Amino acid sequence: MSTSTPTPPTMAKGLEGVIAGESAICKVEQDALIYRGYEIADLAANASFEEVAYLLLKGDKPSTSELEAFNKILISERGLPETVREFLMTSGELVKNNSAVPMDILRTAVSILGHLDPECQDITPEANLRKSIRLLAKTPTIIGHMQNSIDGREFIEADDSLSHAANLLWMMTGQKPTPEAVKVMDVSLVLYAEHDFNASTFTARVIAGTLSDMHGAVTGAIAALKGPLHGGANEAAMEMLSEIRKDIGPENDAGKIQAWMDNAFTTKRKLMGFGHRVYKNGDHRAPILHALGRKAAEARGEEFVRLFELGEAVQTIMEEQKKIFPNVDFPCGMTYFTMGIPVPQYTPIFVASRMSGWCAHISEQHANNRLIRPRVAYTGPELRTWNG
Ligand SMILES: CC(C)(COP(=O)(O)OP(=O)(O)OC[C@H]1O[C@@H](n2cnc3c(N)ncnc32)[C@H](O)[C@@H]1OP(=O)(O)O)[C@@H](O)C(=O)NCCC(=O)NCCS
Repeated sequence: MSTSTPTPPTMAKGLEGVIAGESAICKVEQDALIYRGYEIADLAANASFEEVAYLLLKGDKPSTSELEAFNKILISERGLPETVREFLMTSGELVKNNSAVPMDILRTAVSILGHLDPECQDITPEANLRKSIRLLAKTPTIIGHMQNSIDGREFIEADDSLSHAANLLWMMTGQKPTPEAVKVMDVSLVLYAEHDFNASTFTARVIAGTLSDMHGAVTGAIAALKGPLHGGANEAAMEMLSEIRKDIGPENDAGKIQAWMDNAFTTKRKLMGFGHRVYKNGDHRAPILHALGRKAAEARGEEFVRLFELGEAVQTIMEEQKKIFPNVDFPCGMTYFTMGIPVPQYTPIFVASRMSGWCAHISEQHANNRLIRPRVAYTGPELRTWNG
């Protein structure tokens, strides 16, 4: 066999800085985060999550009647097949036995949905759009039923009068959320909806690039999002703040916080919810969610304000001493905690939003496909012979 295949000239560890494809969905730059032409602060202030999902999936913002029709289908698709419901009934036990975390349960439930979706193998644009809507609609139901099972209660069924954000909170808790809580959740979903070639979306595109199906691609994306260097960071950030609180006690003593941070720096500990591959000078989404979360904390009471003050002290030290800025997962952890959401559901909620971006990318990949297959710089042994 010829050995003359040319070796690629450069290697970028972690694909840093590599342009691995084209997309019309999202632009992530230090100077702006843009979904299909709209800047993130504009969307967070003026668009609902449903409008953003429509924008991502269809390319343009919906008219009033288009949004109405979209919402109607979304709401009608919230129910789960019996097989998935039966699986979710066991999820409380799986979590209690530590044999699964909610992201694993969600991944399996989405995978089962693929078996039961009549269009699973159909990757035409029309079928992909219908499947995107089904996946988007069913994800909060999976999260809600899973949480009900963990809490040892009957499933709370979807409420057709509620938005994506409000219904998610309703199904998890059985309590009708306040308009303020719905607003915070809705904005967090808008902020989480899309982020170009991040690890989970790239995973989804690699899978879709083999002409595999949407449910399979999304299942892989959920596995990628779970990790603490990616979506799992919102849970990890809150766990880190809880650890700091335990170590320093109930007061936000500046000296103790500085000592905790000094120790983290000395031991080269990675602080969760900080840093980003693209945003080296700050994440556009973080201050938006921080402001909303802090307002919620002020309304909720002193304990929650103290949590935000602790987060702010940690952030100041990171920025001043390391020039490393918080990403969206840092304020998200504090915000979801303030809303009373169980920590292991923070990343599943991220999925309830990012599903829109993933599905848009999978459809875009299928519509203009080329197999994604990079090269590797081989570092193994020199050629040797088995019998030699
Ligand atoms: C997001 C992340 C994976 C990006 O990784 P990356 O682009 O490979 O960044 P690098 O690891 O090259 O970081 C550059 C430097 O900053 C440091 N750094 C980056 N993020 C850091 C963090 N959260 N805490 C402490 N130091 C950090 C690195 O240790 C490295 O320092 P060095 O040059 O002395 O080795 C990384 O910042 C991280 O692990 N953050 C914590 C997890 C997180 O919040 N993930 C959510 C991302 S949205």
